[in-house]
Parts: sequence; structure tokens; C-alpha cells
Amino acid sequence: MPLEGKRIILRGLQKEDLQHQLLIRNNTDGQGIARNLPPVFTYEELEKAFNKKEFTIDHKFAAFTIIEKETNEYVGQISYTSYQPRISAEIGILIDENYWGKGYGYEAHEILLEFLFYRLGMRMIMWRTWEDNEGSWKLAQKSGYTITSRVRESIFINGKVSDLLRLQILRDEYFEKHPELQDNLPKL
Ligand SMILES: CC(C)(COP(=O)(O)OP(=O)(O)OC[C@H]1O[C@@H](n2cnc3c(N)ncnc32)[C@H](O)[C@@H]1OP(=O)(O)O)[C@@H](O)C(=O)NCCC(=O)NCCS
Repeated sequence: MPLEGKRIILRGLQKEDLQHQLLIRNNTDGQGIARNLPPVFTYEELEKAFNKKEFTIDHKFAAFTIIEKETNEYVGQISYTSYQPRISAEIGILIDENYWGKGYGYEAHEILLEFLFYRLGMRMIMWRTWEDNEGSWKLAQKSGYTITSRVRESIFINGKVSDLLRLQILRDEYFEKHPELQDNLPKL
């Protein structure tokens, strides 16, 4: 069942999404933390990854496609990895450049965050980015994350060496920011 927000839904990744993924992952302006050298993702690589993993919410890796409700158009993708049941996971997101700055990244992230904290009972969610990716860390901070560490000069991106930023949001911090949701789990 898709996760639903006001303007978008998050549904499981399907094979038909791979062509969109190919385009956004090979757009050098928007590859996010996944940008590497050479910055190439082939359809075959994506298909192999798709066939290898089961993209469902029960597994350690879940990938969702973000769809605009009004138009049914592809907006981007969001996923969680490093899933430790009832403990933690890390979120990654990539929005199609045509949809940047419209609040979709924030909305998609809020939907997934609620799912992870409220439905799956997570204690902590992580986010990684680098210092020059202002959109990424601004989005994370708007959602309540705090920068918890900086790994200096650890990524080569956009032709320069940059600091990697690690951010976290804890369960208590999430529920404090969302008084409309009640935390039904006992404190640890
Ligand atoms: C980072 C990214 C997901 C943001 O998505 P988006 O839909 O454009 O973001 P939103 O419109 O929801 O904006 C959320 C907040 O971040 C801010 N923001 C977004 N992009 C920004 C930018 N380039 N510079 C400064 N602030 C930015 C917005 O102003 C907004 O804050 P506000 O409501 O206080 O004004 C998108 O740019 C993207 O996919 N980038 C490439 C991949 C990537 O960097 N992924 C992040 C993981 S490393």
C-alpha cells in the first residue's frame, strides 16, 4: 500500500521507474551523495540492483518512487538503508530537478520519517550529505535533524574536496516536533 501525503504518494519502486532513475542519477547537478567518478549509472546496473533486492518495507533496504498525485508524474525517489529493526535507518532522497524548490523533497521526507518513527518504531534516523549541498542539509534541518559530525575532506565532489556531514534525529526529538502524534512506545 502506498504511503500518502497531501500532494504526493510514495509507492514501491517498479521496473518502469528505472528509466526515470537513470536520468536523474546521471544528471551531474543532482546526484547527491551518490556522485562518484566516473559519474555513470547504466540501465543495466540499475536493473541488476532492482532484480537483486526486494524493495518492500519488510526488508533492510526499501526504495520508494515519489509520484505527484494530481498528475501521476514521477517526481523522484526516496529510500532507507542500513535498517536495524526498532533501532535505526538512514534516509536518502533524489528529486527530479524539474521539481526542486516546490516542497516535494520535504513532504516526501516527512512521510517517510513518520512511517519510520511512528509505524516502525525507530529510535534514530540518519542522514548524510556534504557541506556544499545546502539544499540537502537545509531540508534535513527543517525536518529536525542536527549535524552530529563532520568528516573533514572526505569526499571529492564538484571538482573539490569537501567535508562529509552526518546528521541525526532521535525519536524524542521527532515526537517533540510532532505533538499531533502520540509516541506509544516505552522510553528506553
Ligand atoms: C536536496 C533535495 C532533495 C531538496 O529537495 P526539494 O524538493 O528541492 O526541497 P524542498 O523544496 O522541499 O525544500 C526544503 C527546504 O530546503 C530548502 N532548500 C532546498 N533546496 C535548496 C537549495 N538548493 N539551497 C538552499 N536551500 C534549499 C528550501 O528552501 C526549504 O526550506 P524552507 O521551506 O525553509 O524555505 C533536492 O535538491 C535534490 O534531490 N538534490 C539532489 C540529491 C541530493 O542532494 N539528495 C540529498 C541527499 S545527499
